[in-house]
Amino acid sequence: ILIGRRLYKGFWLPEPYALGILAFQRRFTPRPDDVVLTSYPKCGTTWLKTLVFAAMARDAYPPAAADHPLRRLNPHACIPFMEDIFTKRQEAKLDGLPSPRLVHTHTPYALLPETVTTGDGCKVVYICRDPKDMVVSMYHYLRRLQPDLSLAGTFHSVLDGTVLYGPMWDHVLGYWHASIARPDRVLFLKYEDLLRNTGEHVRKLAEFMGRPFSGAEEAAGTVESVVELCSFDKMKNLDVNKTGTIERKYHSIAHDAFFRKGVTGDWVNHMSPEMASRLDEIFRDKLRGTGLTA
Ligand code: A3P
Repeated sequence: ILIGRRLYKGFWLPEPYALGILAFQRRFTPRPDDVVLTSYPKCGTTWLKTLVFAAMARDAYPPAAADHPLRRLNPHACIPFMEDIFTKRQEAKLDGLPSPRLVHTHTPYALLPETVTTGDGCKVVYICRDPKDMVVSMYHYLRRLQPDLSLAGTFHSVLDGTVLYGPMWDHVLGYWHASIARPDRVLFLKYEDLLRNTGEHVRKLAEFMGRPFSGAEEAAGTVESVVELCSFDKMKNLDVNKTGTIERKYHSIAHDAFFRKGVTGDWVNHMSPEMASRLDEIFRDKLRGTGLTA
């Protein structure tokens, strides 16, 4: 895979963001009501962003409103990506954001700013996914940047841990252990669970962030409106997500690259049973005894 990588404290950081991640680690000062959305790439970040944004901003922007920002703006435009902000030295932008601020990063837990991981810090929400579906999703995404990439190439770089922010198992386990040690600060979610019962997870997220839905909001169907607003079909078919690109410091990528299929189990259409069982095996091995299952 062409994107360069730097091994730092056991993780393969994308070269273009390595310094940005270190600057984020050293200089980010959270406000107590900030929410840091974190994920392993291609595990449902975009969806998590929309759900959290819609739930947290529901007073200012009722989720059923026709002019809701998420109907006009790509989700990535609503929530700053720390790697990019700190790489571009645009931290001042963060100071201007109203509270509660939502920010996003793929930084491994061990490399997050100490101001986030110790003391009162701020809230952290993590999402992960069946590694087999992650591989397929990442393959399709990276192919936009590198058309000659093969599924086998992506698969092997996940297996040897060198793909972006890898090894994936260490990334996931960092957040898993943190969610056990600091359950009031770190919420650990799985894409598959979110897909199975989105409404229940929107309630869980709102409660975790200190903004539970009131009886009146429940009666008015606000949770269902959030789910509907953020659903895959709605998001994928918005003009703003069908056209345009995200301009990052080192590359740009089409908005529609973040909305492919939005299902679980698509790996069966791309991966051989042998590849699947190799991946399952390595994850079973790495997660053994942790209480987490893939
Ligand atoms: P697929 O490639 O399997 O379809 P990320 O946002 O972390 O880059 O992850 C992208 C994955 O999340 C893609 O998976 C994408 O289709 C899926 N996704 C994006 N928006 C979604 C939504 N609203 N509901 C469910 N899945 C969504």
